Amino acid sequence: MASTYETLDRALRRAFDALAPGADPVLRLSEHADYQANGVMALAKSLGRAPREVAVEVVDLLELDGVASVTIAGPGFLNLTLAPELLDHQLRRLLDDARLGVASAPVPRRVVIDYSSPNVAKEMHVGHLRGTVIGDALARMNRFAGHHVIARNHVGDWGTPFGMLIAHLEDVGEDAAAAELSIGDLDGFYKAARAKFDADEAFQARARARVVALQGGDAETRRLWRVLVDQSVAYFSEVYAKLDVTMTSDDVRGESFYNDRLDDVVGDLRALGLLVDSDGAWCVFPPGFTNRDGEPLPLIVQKRDEGFGYAATDLAALRDRVTELRANEMIYVVGAPQSQHFEMVFAVARMAGWLPDEVRCEHVAFGNVLGPDRKMFKTRGGETIKLVTLLDEAVERAEVVLSERTHDLTPPQVRELATQIARASIKYADLSTERQRDYVFDLERMVSFEGDTGPYLQYAHARVRSIFRRLGEAWSPPEGPFALDTHQERELVKGLLAFPEAFASSLDARQPHRLCNYLFDLAQRFTSFYDACPVLSASGDLRAQRLALCALSANTIALGLSVLGIEAPAQM
Ligand code: ARG
Repeated sequence: MASTYETLDRALRRAFDALAPGADPVLRLSEHADYQANGVMALAKSLGRAPREVAVEVVDLLELDGVASVTIAGPGFLNLTLAPELLDHQLRRLLDDARLGVASAPVPRRVVIDYSSPNVAKEMHVGHLRGTVIGDALARMNRFAGHHVIARNHVGDWGTPFGMLIAHLEDVGEDAAAAELSIGDLDGFYKAARAKFDADEAFQARARARVVALQGGDAETRRLWRVLVDQSVAYFSEVYAKLDVTMTSDDVRGESFYNDRLDDVVGDLRALGLLVDSDGAWCVFPPGFTNRDGEPLPLIVQKRDEGFGYAATDLAALRDRVTELRANEMIYVVGAPQSQHFEMVFAVARMAGWLPDEVRCEHVAFGNVLGPDRKMFKTRGGETIKLVTLLDEAVERAEVVLSERTHDLTPPQVRELATQIARASIKYADLSTERQRDYVFDLERMVSFEGDTGPYLQYAHARVRSIFRRLGEAWSPPEGPFALDTHQERELVKGLLAFPEAFASSLDARQPHRLCNYLFDLAQRFTSFYDACPVLSASGDLRAQRLALCALSANTIALGLSVLGIEAPAQM
């Protein structure tokens, strides 16, 4: 069964099509009526006729019995008011539908999402927050839409730094190293290795020898490398669990996974005649990419020293995703500074015929997390900030906020709730910002119960649930038709019926903030309704109608939050 929007849109399209096939009615939720269609003006222009006249003709053609009534406003806007039968029908349908009107994709797609992707033996800092949180929201949204999601954690686990890391591991001993890494002191380990490398020539020589041994497949060196990788991956998994992110260690396909396919990447590019020797490095020059001086830009696939780079690995990964994973869609959730890298990788893959036109492939870029000074978020000492530190701090703040409110929760319950609030604070602040934009990390604002925040939405949800606790008895949907006599009820219902489109537009554009905006707007619609319309003190069928609106409001907020990866506790 179609959503309200679809029902209107289809009827409008039939009428528009009769005048000009394919003309877009441009249907939107509206404050002037329930919905407004603004497509008449463009249609009239294309027909070379007067908009008013065309509007009259469209209205004549429209079959909206039992769906909506329509009036023409201004130069040709169509104002649509939903029919009581349709409203009643749709609300009852939503009450019976755990998916709240969102259809499951008739043809599921295989969607590969490359996200989080931290580096071995390096701390997960605030910079990894965005990729992890946005990627996970997109994974959950795609799964909810019925698609098959394959998450890929393209962990940086290869390259020359591993020489010094392994040499340092030897020095401190495996057990001590494992202990240091497992508590998440990844940066400390890395820095100690670096410091020795910079100061000590003998160490440098050992590190270099280890790089050669690692690349040559020496068993002992590989084993030590594994220790580093496994410890780091275990630590990343802990961070994911702490954040309530669905990525697991099964999703890890580090850069090293593609090592034995890199020769083929280079060989195949050479056979295709795409490789060019540029200063001793093997490169592809995809058309359309130039530097500031207008010179063509290379994508380096094999360096002068014969080593393969980041780009070669990404080409191998892309081929794997198309051929082995049979991806219909590929999403790379990686920071904006890597835009050119991905554009060039995609361009080269298309030139080589590795990326079929029908595979949608997109770099889903995101901006930076800034400190209060609007510079990159760092500690006072200029260090990057650990993700777990932020999370712990958010939990502490949430505990303080909770202690200022009256509740009858035990200390362990407070802790649990504070954890849920903390995650919601951090995730929502991130997701509700249009992803390409930077934002300032302001924990105090994020944890607040007021404003456009995660805790505000969680609280809005819990407040609706509390109505049912106070009711103290089972309730059933209203017998008679929904009256919706007040403006606030109608505005709330319009919001409730719009969930499927809000979800779809957020998913299509890979823009979680659209769903956040929708949920914030819905919570406000609920507040206006609840301020104006008594629920528990209403009687008879009116009470049942209003309870039904409350139930739908709570369900919609909870479902919307859950597909974004945010929990909705029943009580706060
Ligand atoms: N590890 C990389 C970094 O920290 C991100 C990897 C992104 N994914 C990819 N397929 N290149 O910058």
